[in-house]
Amino acid sequence: MNQLKPQVNPPLWLLAELTYRCPLQCPYCSNPLDFAQQEKELTTEQWIEVFKQARQMGAVQLGFSGGEPLVRKDLPELIRAARDLGFYTNLITSGIGLTEKKIDAFAEAGLDHIQISFQASDETLNAALAGSQKAFQTKLAMAKAVKAHGYPMVLNFVLHRHNIDRIDRIIELCIELEADDVELATCQFYGWAQLNREGLLPTREQIARAEDVVHQYRQKMSASGNLANLLFVTPDYYEERPKGCMGGWGAIFLSVTPEGTALPCHSARQLPVQFPSVLENTLQEIWFESFGFNKYRGFDWMPEPCRSCSEKEKDFGGCRCQAFMLTGNADNTDPVCSKSPHHGKILQAREQANCTNIQINQLQFRNRANSQLIFKTGV
Ligand code: FES
Repeated sequence: MNQLKPQVNPPLWLLAELTYRCPLQCPYCSNPLDFAQQEKELTTEQWIEVFKQARQMGAVQLGFSGGEPLVRKDLPELIRAARDLGFYTNLITSGIGLTEKKIDAFAEAGLDHIQISFQASDETLNAALAGSQKAFQTKLAMAKAVKAHGYPMVLNFVLHRHNIDRIDRIIELCIELEADDVELATCQFYGWAQLNREGLLPTREQIARAEDVVHQYRQKMSASGNLANLLFVTPDYYEERPKGCMGGWGAIFLSVTPEGTALPCHSARQLPVQFPSVLENTLQEIWFESFGFNKYRGFDWMPEPCRSCSEKEKDFGGCRCQAFMLTGNADNTDPVCSKSPHHGKILQAREQANCTNIQINQLQFRNRANSQLIFKTGV
């Protein structure tokens, strides 16, 4: 019997992971653990060809990320090409390597938006997490410079058990720096964050306290006419239903890795699924016809309890990468869902968060040496 093919719309959002190189060593980086094995990077011309194809298909937003995208010397050229094609462009950076001169060059090339990430609200904790003593002061200076150039600025803080209790100071810093949007995003457990999960997952009490503080600040800020948007993202480990990851598999989001692998999400390269390269296929073929992009589209692939679930059109069975990391099989229901037979894994992680005592210096930092070691030993 012929199965009804799901309707596939073109991608809206292209994420260009320009490089895995990065001067920082955050232990919650979402880059793959074996990033040090991936040294190749697309050339300027190859990236521009990817942008052209994505734009022709209808993509409207282009994010430059990494690693640290600022290490690519051709970034102004890439921004200009993307802007000329009509993309809304967004630079996702740690701010390390940014200079006033570069901000000028990006503005001139037509960059629309800059997001700077911080590790913490104070120098000591920021240095301990980023693995760089100078990072905090550089970030402060660059956040001020970004504002001075008239950019709408997003400040992003990844929250975890070692910094979430300082959320009031984090918000104060964002107010001081005149952020237009603030993303207080609790760690999502992919890549290095998954490796360090036990040492990063906050307790439920920590999250509840943080939520209260955010709520109070929202009220205080709106009463004083500060319209900055405070977005607080809780970790799905404390939810009973999974997130509709990426708005659905191969539905709106397309990511391209530094060496040109096309993925339906930033974490999918860890799955036992073959994903195509932009060097061998057009984006049109990749998006509409490739095995990897079609694998989890629609509902026919779903096992129970997702298949007969009334919420499947909302959450698509959750995150395929999380299902794979926690159960060994990406076809399974995301264990975040309380209907999943594997939900016990999530309950166990919550329990662990209540009794662990892992300190920052015991985390596995994202650097080349650790990446190579993990690749060699598998640990
Ligand atoms: Fe890959 Fe959720 S991160 S599907």
